[in-house]
Amino acid sequence: MPRTLDPQLKRDLTERVRYYREMGIYDLYRRPVADAGSLQEIQPESRDEMTPKSKAAVAVLEEDLSVAPRAEAGIADPAAALRLIREDLGDCTRCPLHKQGRKQIVFGVGNPRADLMFIGEAPGADEDQQGEPFVGRAGQLLNNMIKAMGIRREDVYIANIIKCRPPGNRTPERDECETCSPFLMRQIAAIKPKAIVALGAVAAKTLLAINAPMSEFRGRWYDFRGTKLAVTYHPAFLLRDPRQKKETWKDLQMVMKELGLAMPAKGVD
Ligand code: URA
Repeated sequence: MPRTLDPQLKRDLTERVRYYREMGIYDLYRRPVADAGSLQEIQPESRDEMTPKSKAAVAVLEEDLSVAPRAEAGIADPAAALRLIREDLGDCTRCPLHKQGRKQIVFGVGNPRADLMFIGEAPGADEDQQGEPFVGRAGQLLNNMIKAMGIRREDVYIANIIKCRPPGNRTPERDECETCSPFLMRQIAAIKPKAIVALGAVAAKTLLAINAPMSEFRGRWYDFRGTKLAVTYHPAFLLRDPRQKKETWKDLQMVMKELGLAMPAKGVD
């Protein structure tokens, strides 16, 4: 990696790396190519997949470009890391939802050291009003599901794929999910849960990048960046079709088994 960059190239690279940072993408590597001046060489990639040489190159690039590393990098305390991520999110205007009637950003709630995370779709009217995920009718049912597992809402961490209420509770657009979810990825990385439960198809599709119906998602474990991830029905769907509570209870029992939680006889009410 050369230590001196052409000033224009440096400006372009700085802008590009800042853009990735804004998107919550921090891990970059440089492909070995003939034309070292092209911006197209820089691609996001998981740091786990990087060779030591690539990691060193990224470190030099970051230093050279004076780009701040991820705010919570090196912070071992998950509560402190979550605070830094929240600060970084700020009064977010990264997608159009900020000017479409949101009252506030709904970041996430719960135990920063939780073994289990629940991830829903997007805040609804009650959540937008109170600034906390799953506090409306669907939230009451989620609380019952958590209680049925023999744990408390305060023991788990609850978040959504997107942090602002879409107008009229419409399904989030793909670009809204793509813009917002990097912050969720950072929350997951800070909390390091043992298991994640994706609630409903939007959460499952976004996290797993698989387009499948709920019937195909359920009933098995997925590997999500080294963390076990299960998919079950969204509580709002269960309010519309309570017959599926029985199936949901099967999914939750699979999670309880993985976490070593005692199996109560009772299911989800
Ligand atoms: N539905 C969701 O997906 N998330 C909430 O926070 C509330 C309802």
